[in-house]
Amino acid sequence: MTHQVRAVVARAKGAPVSLETILVPDPGPGEALVKIEACGVCHTDLHYREGGINDDFPFLLGHEAAGVVESVGEGVTDVAPGDFVILNWRAVCGQCRACLRGRPWYCFNTHNAEQKMTLTDGTELSPALGIGAFAEKTLVAAGQCTKVDREASAAAAGLLGCGVMAGIGAAINTGNVGRGDTVAVIGCGGVGDAAVVGSRLAGAAKIIAVDIDDRKLETAKRLGATHTVNSKENDAVEAIRELTGGFGADVVIEAVGRPETYKQAFYARDLAGTVVLVGVPTPEMKLELPLLDVFGRGGSLKSSWYGDCLPSRDFPMLIDLYRQGRLDLDAFVTETIALDEVEKAFERMHGGDVLRSVVVL
Ligand code: APR
Ligand code: ZN
Ligand code: ZN
Repeated sequence: MTHQVRAVVARAKGAPVSLETILVPDPGPGEALVKIEACGVCHTDLHYREGGINDDFPFLLGHEAAGVVESVGEGVTDVAPGDFVILNWRAVCGQCRACLRGRPWYCFNTHNAEQKMTLTDGTELSPALGIGAFAEKTLVAAGQCTKVDREASAAAAGLLGCGVMAGIGAAINTGNVGRGDTVAVIGCGGVGDAAVVGSRLAGAAKIIAVDIDDRKLETAKRLGATHTVNSKENDAVEAIRELTGGFGADVVIEAVGRPETYKQAFYARDLAGTVVLVGVPTPEMKLELPLLDVFGRGGSLKSSWYGDCLPSRDFPMLIDLYRQGRLDLDAFVTETIALDEVEKAFERMHGGDVLRSVVVL
């Protein structure tokens, strides 16, 4: 059977997205058909629309989603129809060298659904990050579904599928933030704010939020930052040193993705401290540093991909923390919108007051 559903499609580079009818096949072996309840609007969706990822138009956008499994294909045992699931874009294989060495977050063989979703004329769609969840239903690999208790709203839970997990994971998984640590977070959008939350969960004693926009700093403070620095008005590195007794932070998390903030992160850490890079740069960006500083400062420089998360371990754990009132996922949902309002949400993205617009179906 084929399911006809409404979905948000980017047909051509830079063109506004459109609401289309698409065809979604029944799940084949190892696949799951998911009825989407909510999906957040992430910068990566906009990058797809702008042709910044690749040219495989038309794209079926959306990838920060939660919903209910409607049916599963042959051989699927981990999820069943009726399960409330959060989707992820790293279904790991369990068999490659990375998986076998206990580092599945570096899996070389992540996979997606094999069957294609199409426009009504048969044109194959490329689902964003192998998901494509700005749609009433989508087809994914069963390994992209993590069953969780229905504690949070679908809008809040779905955010764990990308940006919020990336930020929390940067702190707890990649940065290994520990009790009593000092942490600085440079760039306090949705991802940076999630890093603030992750640092607080990990027991950091001091969390310094850095941004060029005072409104962002206010939100970061509400979410747990103990100090704020406006780096338009102050030298970020000096301010962070001053706030840490002249040392620099134990962990600095960069969540912007620009050469100047990479550099700030590098110099704002304590000797032997850790820099965690979450902000994604563009191909032409370069970082220039005196080698003597790289050698002399010790410590480590790590990039964090998807918060080095393991969805089956981390999503249920974070939903537990939500239930206990220790993780305010709702704070990341700035507004809920309809499926036909994604284009407007893209326009508001850089406005300064939106952490996440979330499509609720
Ligand atoms: N110094 C400090 N903060 C800055 C600077 C700067 N030079 N330039 C921008 N910012 C701030 C913005 O004011 C904003 O609050 O960085 C924040 C970026 O937030 P968003 O645009 O909302 O982006 P977000 O979704 O948080 O993602 C941040 O992480 O995963 C990556 O691809 C993602 O590179 C992006 C980054
Ligand atoms: Zn693997
Ligand atoms: Zn995303």
